[in-house]
Amino acid sequence: MTNSFTHDVIIIGAGAAGMMCALTAGQRGRRVLLLDHLDRAGAKILISGGGRCNFTNVDGGLAERYLSANPHFARSALGRYRPADFIDLVDRHGIAWHEKTLGQLFCDGSARQIVAMLEEECAASGVETKLLTRISAISKPDERFRVETPGGSLAAPSLVIATGGPSIPKMGATGFAYDVARQFGLKVVEPRPALVPLTLGQDDRLFETLSGVSLDVVASLGKARFREAALFTHRGLSGPAILQISSYWRHGDTLSLDLLPGTDAAALLVAAKQARPRAEPRTILREHFPDRLADVLADRLGLSGPMLGHKDQALVAAGRRLNAWPFMPNGSEGFAKAEVTIGGVSTDGLDQRTLMAKKAPGLHFIGEAVDVTGWLGGYNFQWAWASGRAAGEAA
Ligand code: FDA
Repeated sequence: MTNSFTHDVIIIGAGAAGMMCALTAGQRGRRVLLLDHLDRAGAKILISGGGRCNFTNVDGGLAERYLSANPHFARSALGRYRPADFIDLVDRHGIAWHEKTLGQLFCDGSARQIVAMLEEECAASGVETKLLTRISAISKPDERFRVETPGGSLAAPSLVIATGGPSIPKMGATGFAYDVARQFGLKVVEPRPALVPLTLGQDDRLFETLSGVSLDVVASLGKARFREAALFTHRGLSGPAILQISSYWRHGDTLSLDLLPGTDAAALLVAAKQARPRAEPRTILREHFPDRLADVLADRLGLSGPMLGHKDQALVAAGRRLNAWPFMPNGSEGFAKAEVTIGGVSTDGLDQRTLMAKKAPGLHFIGEAVDVTGWLGGYNFQWAWASGRAAGEAA
């Protein structure tokens, strides 16, 4: 075993947050070692945004777009490294980008450009990167943190944990950060899959026949509301509106889908009955929904025969249901399909300016490992950049 004290900062996890932290600390003249157990850096960046990386959101600086047990925690880091700062970096590297929808910024070309940019910045600021490095233990026997690897024992006064959360384990995701947090006396907020498709149980089985049908909805749960597309799948519900609401959903919660956003469906059905009393309800519904969905909805609402056969009261009730259709998911597709993990290292034990553990000076947690989770649409990368920057300025 060799003892090496050649670095000021060791960062474990060469993902979005770890690379941003490394290049920031490197630019300050710190001697940085960046470790990862995979054979490449930025694996999740490469698959993000369908291969085009939704690298930030124009509203990525708004703390209200992030979920955490402490909703104010992210404000400091997000306020000091803004979407415009990351856009400047992307522009300096000549990477072409576009705004897709709802402030979401994507590469015109490939997510590989973002990884290459971060690797170049790391190299330019003297960061040493070691891939395929398995960490067997961490300790702090003296002033420095000691990191045990098969190649020997490494040590540095600053240690940054940037190993993300357990979502998509087949891509090398682990709960490593939580183990380190507990080892140093920090709490972990129960990690749950988020931005994940939801599954439906027996009661909603009728919707199984709709696999592939998508429509514009407002998905709501408590105060959370998202107007975006929802998609019926053979197991339940997906699409951006559902992924968003999944971050707020817990077992036993019923979510509500407005299937006709912006339209008073009760008034629409009553007016349709007056205008076309002999029309079939499913014909009316087919004017507003994909055919397969209109047929299932008419069946579920018990609307058969001509419109004139239905009392106004029944049509009003049917319309209200269309504007607030209740779904009680029986689960989610889990960490295997979750884009992110909600929960994680509790912000209670961390300093919001530096992401340093209050109980273990020199130890920082950044990115998805921390109990800060963004909305869908570039927010999670913005948190990775901002928290990585904050720790990189302090470590
Ligand atoms: P990240 O997971 O990126 O990096 C962690 C690193 O630590 C990895 O390199 C891993 O190999 C390493 N590691 C883990 N355990 C280790 C251990 N024990 N030892 C050593 N190394 C270890 N977000 C967004 O804003 N826009 C988007 O377009 C998308 N798209 C998207 C698509 C898909 C399919 C997924 C799964 C996720 C997204 N996301 C996203 C979310 C985004 O990828 C995520 O929030 C960030 O990658 C989090 O960055 P971190 O650096 O914290 O973790």
